[in-house]
Amino acid sequence: MNRRHFFNSLTAAAGAAALPSTLLAQPVRGAAPQASPLFDNRARTPLRGWHGQDVHCESALIEGKLPAELRGVFYRNGPGLFERGGQRYDHWFDGDGLVHAWRFTDQGVSHRARFVKTAKFKAEQEANEFLYPAFGTAIRPKRPLRSNDSMNTANTSAVRLGDHVLALWEGGSAHRLDPETLETRGIVDFGGALKGLPFSAHPKIEPDGTFWNFGTLFGKMVVYHLSPTGDLKRHAVFEMPASAMVHDFVVTERHLVFLIPPIGLDMAAVRAGQKSMIGAMQWRAADGIKVLIVDKDDFSKRRVLEMPAFMVFHFGNAWERDGVIRLDCVKTQDLAIMNEWMPRLMRGEEAREAPSQATFVTVNLNTGKVGVESRSEDLEFPRVDPRVVARRNRYVFYPVAATRGANSLDGVMRLDTETGKTDVAAMGNGISLEEHVLVPKPGSSKEGEGWLVGVGFDAARQQSFATVWDAMRLSSGPVAIARLPYWTPYCFHGHFHA
Ligand SMILES: [Fe+2]
Repeated sequence: MNRRHFFNSLTAAAGAAALPSTLLAQPVRGAAPQASPLFDNRARTPLRGWHGQDVHCESALIEGKLPAELRGVFYRNGPGLFERGGQRYDHWFDGDGLVHAWRFTDQGVSHRARFVKTAKFKAEQEANEFLYPAFGTAIRPKRPLRSNDSMNTANTSAVRLGDHVLALWEGGSAHRLDPETLETRGIVDFGGALKGLPFSAHPKIEPDGTFWNFGTLFGKMVVYHLSPTGDLKRHAVFEMPASAMVHDFVVTERHLVFLIPPIGLDMAAVRAGQKSMIGAMQWRAADGIKVLIVDKDDFSKRRVLEMPAFMVFHFGNAWERDGVIRLDCVKTQDLAIMNEWMPRLMRGEEAREAPSQATFVTVNLNTGKVGVESRSEDLEFPRVDPRVVARRNRYVFYPVAATRGANSLDGVMRLDTETGKTDVAAMGNGISLEEHVLVPKPGSSKEGEGWLVGVGFDAARQQSFATVWDAMRLSSGPVAIARLPYWTPYCFHGHFHA
């Protein structure tokens, strides 16, 4: 029995959570809190959050075989701290950003997680209380709100750009982190020219590295065109066709495309501490979705079409031929996912999420007609092969509720958009999987040829892990799992830097 098998059998027998540290192969610095008086649901332990500490594990326990060509850093970001001074946030979206680096090397897989040292994080850690309003929790400001960055939690995604990792949050500036240590270096303001303008957590990066992003604030939209190393090439600020929350977008070879859901916002109530941002949102289904199409070469050339209302957070990809844009997204019915389901989960209750479904939208620029079709699987967090962004794609990858009755996304799915066929694997009850990203195999140029890499939580072991799948053979099961000796808070999004 080699060391790996020894630890496998040991962790299986002991449920791993109770392992004394002397038996762990991995040095662990820092530790997740073992109890929160304000949260008790072992199926959703990651929603407890950490208390602001940095954590590092030098060597995760590997099951299976790590592909020899899979080398790089998987950066992830998500809300990691939910309680201060006896108060707990009502909403998952509110927590302070905790950036993770899963490093795939010849030695195995290491993990490091560090809180982004935003101005908000530093002030609130020092005060040991929440000082600023949050997205989903009504908090009367105890310090002046100098700009939108006063509330910046930097908690939504992480992407390598030039010499830094950016920690992204849609309401304000990106934060620059050291790619090795994850130390916070400052905010991105493009030389001061665009200080404080929002920079969304869903940039789109074309195969040549061309980097597109946007932000929305008080009815205005800003769009950005950056070079592959992060230099600002062009930007524009303009009035939106409707004032709303816009979380994600897509690009084609010619256009930036936004679906703007019908959400009104009572900002006066937020500023007065009477309502959270979410509490101040109103769903106006009769207004429908505004489809905003912006010319990539000339941001002043914009067009607006309309389609029936649904709520959308995330997009997979878009491409166009002969004036017809095809894009995919994930739809939910309305705002209930934010207003009802997540606050219940944050209180430790089990709640059934309204299903969200893969949805395909056709925008015909010749006729002005918009078509919509949806599938039935319950899923979220679509991603495509980075080599097909803005180009015609065949596959979309999702975490999916794969086991009947599962109350989490416990599997992964590859959808073939040409045939409608799926390749699905379930990891089973007690497992919740996060977004999974496609990492191309070096030397290959075929869409889908590579590994699907993601992160998950195992409720029985009370541990988090990273998964590696052969992206074209998901139903064969993961080729490798890298287990941590601790659990981590859930993340939203990230990118693999090969
Ligand atoms: Fe997102």
